[in-house]
Amino acid sequence: MRIDIITCLPALLESPLAYSIVQRAIKKNIVQIHVHHLRDYAQNKHQQIDDKAYGGMPGMVLMVEPIARCIETLQQQRKYDKVIYMSPDGVLLNQPMANTLSLDKHLLILCGHYKGIDERIRKQWITHEISIGTYVLSGGELAAAVLVDALVRLLPGAINNEMSALEDSFQNQQIAPPVYTRPAKFRDMEVPSVLLSGNHQKIRQWEETQIAMRTNLYHLKNHTHLNKNSINRQKNKKIL
Ligand code: ADE
Repeated sequence: MRIDIITCLPALLESPLAYSIVQRAIKKNIVQIHVHHLRDYAQNKHQQIDDKAYGGMPGMVLMVEPIARCIETLQQQRKYDKVIYMSPDGVLLNQPMANTLSLDKHLLILCGHYKGIDERIRKQWITHEISIGTYVLSGGELAAAVLVDALVRLLPGAINNEMSALEDSFQNQQIAPPVYTRPAKFRDMEVPSVLLSGNHQKIRQWEETQIAMRTNLYHLKNHTHLNKNSINRQKNKKIL
């Protein structure tokens, strides 16, 4: 897979791509990620890439010309399966979407910043708009990093144990069970004894029960407003 990312702040994408599974996948040539600095596509005198919004709305808007030039330059070099704009009003990213996108060969991701991008870009070039949550970030870069991470870990060979990405939470609409490692006892907190029993059938049963409990709890927490507060209170968690 090849992913091209267009941004006015390439430094924001550096460390998310430089560690862990994404970095290993890049080194193994499972994915090629190219970050393009919007300013390199500005042809005006001061390499300006943003300007005041028409209509007097406060805040700066990323200009149409540099973005159009960058997208068209890249599109002349290869055909993109999707041209994605990261935006809080896009379709909410979820695991099935990540699974689908991970099958594409070439993705082009545009990050907005400031007040957003000139609407003509969205109309003319963007094929998909993706949000990573119903809140507003300062720009699309962190959102793009989230999307790239979610995709890359699904690519064959990106994760050592090929099966483990399939066992993530949200694959099969299920939440993963709790996990423990050594020591078996820390202060007064013990690892559930079944995990130390060596009885694989019992361990599998325990995992399945935990998966079911966590999945139910997840739905209660996130989809049942009436129960949300009481569950959070029971778990001694702060309510957002
Ligand atoms: N840009 C700003 N906020 C965003 C969000 N929540 N998701 C995707 N892109 C964004």
